[in-house]
Amino acid sequence: FVTAGGPGSRLTFETVLPGNESDVVVPSNYEVDILLRWGDPLTPEAPEFDVSNQTGASQAQQFGFNADLVLWYPLPEWVVRRVMMLGGQLDDRASRVLGLVYPRAKDNFSQRALVIVNHEYTSGDDMFPGYDASNPTQDQVEAEIEAHGFSIVELELDNGGRWQFNRNSQFNRRSTGSTAMEITGPLRGDLLMQTAADPTGMEVFGSLNNCAGGKTPWGTILTCEENFDQYFANFPQADQAYELSKRIAAPSGESGRKWERYDSRFDLSQDPQEYHRFGYIVEIDPYNPRDKPKKRTALGRCKHEGAAASIAPDGRVAIYSGDDARFEYVYKFVTKHPYDRRNRQANLSLLDEGKLYVARFDAGDAEDDDMGTGEWLLVHDTDFPDAAALIDTRGTADALGATPMDRPEDIEVSPKTGHVFIALTNNSRRDGDPGDTRVVNGRVVSSAPDEANPRNDTYNDGNPDSNTGNQHGHIVELIEDGDDPNSLTFRWNILVKCGDPAVPAHRTSFGDIVDPVAAGVSPISDPDNLVHDDDGNLWIATDGQFFSGGPVGFGQNDGIFAVPVEGEDRGLLRQFLSGVPRAEVCGPEFSGDNRSFFCAIQHPWDGQAFTNFWPLDEESGSRVSKPSLIAVREKDGQKIGKGPA
Ligand code: FEO
Ligand code: CA
Ligand code: CA
Ligand code: CA
Repeated sequence: FVTAGGPGSRLTFETVLPGNESDVVVPSNYEVDILLRWGDPLTPEAPEFDVSNQTGASQAQQFGFNADLVLWYPLPEWVVRRVMMLGGQLDDRASRVLGLVYPRAKDNFSQRALVIVNHEYTSGDDMFPGYDASNPTQDQVEAEIEAHGFSIVELELDNGGRWQFNRNSQFNRRSTGSTAMEITGPLRGDLLMQTAADPTGMEVFGSLNNCAGGKTPWGTILTCEENFDQYFANFPQADQAYELSKRIAAPSGESGRKWERYDSRFDLSQDPQEYHRFGYIVEIDPYNPRDKPKKRTALGRCKHEGAAASIAPDGRVAIYSGDDARFEYVYKFVTKHPYDRRNRQANLSLLDEGKLYVARFDAGDAEDDDMGTGEWLLVHDTDFPDAAALIDTRGTADALGATPMDRPEDIEVSPKTGHVFIALTNNSRRDGDPGDTRVVNGRVVSSAPDEANPRNDTYNDGNPDSNTGNQHGHIVELIEDGDDPNSLTFRWNILVKCGDPAVPAHRTSFGDIVDPVAAGVSPISDPDNLVHDDDGNLWIATDGQFFSGGPVGFGQNDGIFAVPVEGEDRGLLRQFLSGVPRAEVCGPEFSGDNRSFFCAIQHPWDGQAFTNFWPLDEESGSRVSKPSLIAVREKDGQKIGKGPA
């Protein structure tokens, strides 16, 4: 088998072949455990899952639907004892000590851990037997609202080295589509945030479409609201609220889910400003079971995907985030104040003040060489708050000349180099030639390829004259000038142009690998979620690869891929895991010691969940496929990526 990463590299695993197997496939020296499935009760009191009897009240106590982001946090024993002693909360003193030990603890072995899993969205057809999409019941709608949000759960290692869910943990909690959250930052209390239900403009119910996210240096969760538009109905077309959101418009008629029939806050004809209260990065402290989630408005409002933190030499913290839609932008927020390891309480409000930038990618010294330079353009500064400009983040960024990208999904900062990696998953509308334009998301853009989004026909339709879009996506590496996250200028290059390296029409490239087929590079399409291992290798989850004959994918189960980003094997990308049919693979994450790997299998057998079953043992149980959190470990306890010992 192929190895990657040069002498001594740990990426010596056997390449997993692309396929359509009905269960998760990993290299032969690895094992897969299913840790949590949709509907699993999260507390001792929670009801057992009953597919034929679902309500909001039951789902609110169970693992939610469509698992996406996965983040791992070490759980020291003393934190468990302290929180128990204080009746289920973390006090300021313990929080301060936690802030001191967290930077080391997060990279080491821990017997106990907290894991957050996002529940991005619901599909009534795959949740309720006999579901009628034109006429959902109130119980179904309430169950769907409560199946959104995220779960925070405690995992414990057993003697065999397997992670087990601890149902009795005081840290287990759900946050759903109806959980009270604080609005913080410049939009807190603003006139534009006030609704009939919340005249203060300071509290909102629920977080929706939580997709990817990230961890802060002080051990909190950042979870991102992505496609929030689809939950709302009857968006008035002539209203100030419409003007501020025309770049991210909700349906003008009824919504697909029809929640507005049972919950008036989803009916924008009644209260259009409710719409202003979604589309944010939400911060929550997993160590404090009483912590109220906070929507951090200073980081802008869009279809946020990832949120990756990086500490600058002067201590200020940059948070990188993508806006996942065709021809949208890459953003960076830089805090006004520095991170202070000794003062976790102060860090807990760091994200409320600072500057929001958007990226412009320039060609640099030469055209068509897959690299260039770039500039961060100022969108908003909390020292000069402008509520309308912030609510209309996209529109503000348009006026600055930011570069429309091929759907920025997850974004990660290498722990080794500080370089930023951006997954651009695909763009079926990148189908023009120079001079061609399209109307996308309420404004006119060039549909032609550009330096940072260089392909307009990786969809192999057999017609050399038609441009059919960037079918397979690519990954960009961004290097801040001076290696300083505060920098206003950067260099960038394309690490990988995805596709099948054996198909010339895909025009792939894989780092420095001259002959990818001979080198054993795996085919890959639609890169989505990212994570680095502690050696700095990039691990990639895909979403859309399963589909074929259309503008994305090429007919193989989505999976997990690993690629060195430094050294002579830079670009030697190989498949580590194959998922299950019609499922995307999400949230790749490592335990601190990198000896466990976690990911989520989202929407297994999408659209067919009542006729095909995964996890496989569901066939004899509730007879429905279930989105699930899984763990992968090497049989001899080696670090993830190693081949047989
Ligand atoms: Fe929810 Fe952009 O993936
Ligand atoms: Ca160039
Ligand atoms: Ca995603
Ligand atoms: Ca990630």
